[in-house]
Amino acid sequence: MNCKKYPGTMDVRMNPVSPHIESLSRQLTSELAEVETRFTAELVSDVDCVNELVRHLERYRGKMLRPMLVFLAAQAAKPDQPIREEHRVIATTVELIHMASLVHDDILDEAELRRRGKTVNALRGNETAVMLGDYLFSHAYHLCSSLDSQPTARIIARAANTVCEGELLQLANRDNWSLDEETYMQIIHRKTAALVGVSCDLGARFADADPQMREDLKCYGELIGMAFQIADDVLDLTGDVATVGKSLGKDLEKGKLTLPLIRRMETAHRVEHQQLLDLLRADRLGNAERIAELVADSDAMDYTRRRAQRLVDQAKALVEALPDSPAKKAMDEVADRVIDRKF
Ligand code: IPE
Ligand code: IPE
Ligand code: MG
Ligand code: MG
Repeated sequence: MNCKKYPGTMDVRMNPVSPHIESLSRQLTSELAEVETRFTAELVSDVDCVNELVRHLERYRGKMLRPMLVFLAAQAAKPDQPIREEHRVIATTVELIHMASLVHDDILDEAELRRRGKTVNALRGNETAVMLGDYLFSHAYHLCSSLDSQPTARIIARAANTVCEGELLQLANRDNWSLDEETYMQIIHRKTAALVGVSCDLGARFADADPQMREDLKCYGELIGMAFQIADDVLDLTGDVATVGKSLGKDLEKGKLTLPLIRRMETAHRVEHQQLLDLLRADRLGNAERIAELVADSDAMDYTRRRAQRLVDQAKALVEALPDSPAKKAMDEVADRVIDRKF
């Protein structure tokens, strides 16, 4: 199987354990290549400078988690039915929305590195990155309206609204050193989990899954989406740029508290709490190492991992109820992999 085209793709497709999984894996590889082709075709412009910018984006492929889940949910819901045209359109649309949100997120974070390459804002400045993000969002709507399904378009638009709400809620809590776990969960549910959930829901919808199965698959997506963001936040605090391939340390730099630090603050006794606050309020970039040490020297990382694991376990329980199939097995593996990711 040739996975070289997707160096970062979650390797559930690279680890076939049975002939059925191998066949699913081959199918996913070819469906994801098709998404890539459609993504490129959708963004073609008759303005040369736009095409040049889009080429920059296309040099870097991500893990394609959301398109992969559209196909897996479809196959898990109805193992004997083929992937439909609608699935390909939806898979491309969710990747466009995801990409738009990343282009804008890199402006907010003043990030320089994404998928081992320069971010659009680092390369061309914020104005161009704002407009390129808008170009991607508007193409997502252009593409999904080709389905001629108003309910689908509304579900996708709602997910994009929710991603923006999550980022706005996060911005509103910037430098809020008493951010609580519940608000953090709301932020990650909106900014990350909603789109992952919708990817699964719409995969199932166009496989004619019944409402309960759609709801379970959507919920699976949201649960692994939250676990995925928690793992991403741990990487931002403790990961290695060379392995992860994107700018790290941005959450602290931008005053975003994430679960390890929230837990550390909540469980610190008075003197420690004040010490952490002083480090955060003063020069938090200069103090990043000390802050990371204080987090490491507590139950905070363990607590965070257990929280993410609980979400994964809940997601896996939902998949367990599906009929046996290679896609069901793959979804079970994806749930495990969202938290042991290194990239
Ligand atoms: C990055 O998402 C943003 C988060 C939700 C953490 P991915 O890690 O899925 O990004 P790519 O598409 O693989 O680069
Ligand atoms: C933002 O979260 C994810 C989006 C939904 C856009 P992060 O800021 O943690 O994402 P990365 O780490 O830059 O990929
Ligand atoms: Mg970011
Ligand atoms: Mg991050």
